[in-house]
Amino acid sequence: MSFKEELGKKAAEIDELLKTYLPEETGFQKTVLEAMNYSVTAGGKRLRPMLMLETYRMFGGEGKVIFPFMAAIEMIHTYSLVHDDLPAMDNDEYRRGQKTTHAVYGEAMGILAGDALLNYAFETAAGALSLELSERTAKAIQILGAKAGIYGMIGGQVVDVESEGQDISRDKLDFIYRLKTSALIECSMMIGAVLAGASKEETEKIQKTAEDVGLAFQIQDDILDVTSTLEMLGKPIHSDEKNQKTTYVTLEGLDKAKRDVEAISQRALATLRSLEHKNPFLEELITMLITREK
Ligand code: IPE
Ligand code: IPE
Ligand code: MG
Ligand code: MG
Ligand code: MG
Repeated sequence: MSFKEELGKKAAEIDELLKTYLPEETGFQKTVLEAMNYSVTAGGKRLRPMLMLETYRMFGGEGKVIFPFMAAIEMIHTYSLVHDDLPAMDNDEYRRGQKTTHAVYGEAMGILAGDALLNYAFETAAGALSLELSERTAKAIQILGAKAGIYGMIGGQVVDVESEGQDISRDKLDFIYRLKTSALIECSMMIGAVLAGASKEETEKIQKTAEDVGLAFQIQDDILDVTSTLEMLGKPIHSDEKNQKTTYVTLEGLDKAKRDVEAISQRALATLRSLEHKNPFLEELITMLITREK
């Protein structure tokens, strides 16, 4: 099987897994359940659950305890996108190739669907304690909370939104990217490592790898915002310009941005390869992200 085929197969397996964790659309609160499922099933790349599972496998993990965490991270990531697209934030009309959640269900339901996904993520992750009541599972839930929160993704989104229309320093931009994007990728890979029993030193190296993967990923996202198309991305281009964001591209220029995606990804690969455990698919996945077009 080619890498591309393998990638498609793994993403399809994650889609199937996610479906088993989504709520049934019944009851008086049905609208919010539909909105949750609408946003999750639209079909993203499923990068975060994939990184989580591959890191788990890399450290020899074989159990089912990882599954609720894979669902939880995709729910949290999806909620972050639903809220990111709201009129009060980036105000975007398309996501994952379809109308944004608030555009279809209205703004109030967009806010609530995001809240609901965040809460349901923790309800789902806590279910892992029934599968395996261990120190590792407890630690994984802690990581999920911390990396999604004020010192993680939410913290980054706060500074991102506050910085609209301003010239910001490279330092502040790096802070934003490390939090708004790297944090959930660190979360994914660290949970995979911790649940499989990786040591503290190994988990730190995984965190460093993931931080770089996240930085390169966000820089590439900024590049695609100026070079791609709505059809290709499934979300509007020139969203950053519309919102007067300072991005890696506006700060450093397109050519340097492209070179740095490659350099930072290579640094991530070097950190990953310095570990004793190996996962060739994971290495190929990170390599592929350098040239991703969506
Ligand atoms: C989009 O993430 C938000 C960023 C951090 C740039 P993805 O590009 O992983 O979005 P999906 O999940 O594939 O839709
Ligand atoms: C998003 O950054 C990071 C999140 C935590 C959602 P962007 O605002 O650049 O993401 P897109 O381009 O809308 O996917
Ligand atoms: Mg944004
Ligand atoms: Mg956005
Ligand atoms: Mg973007």
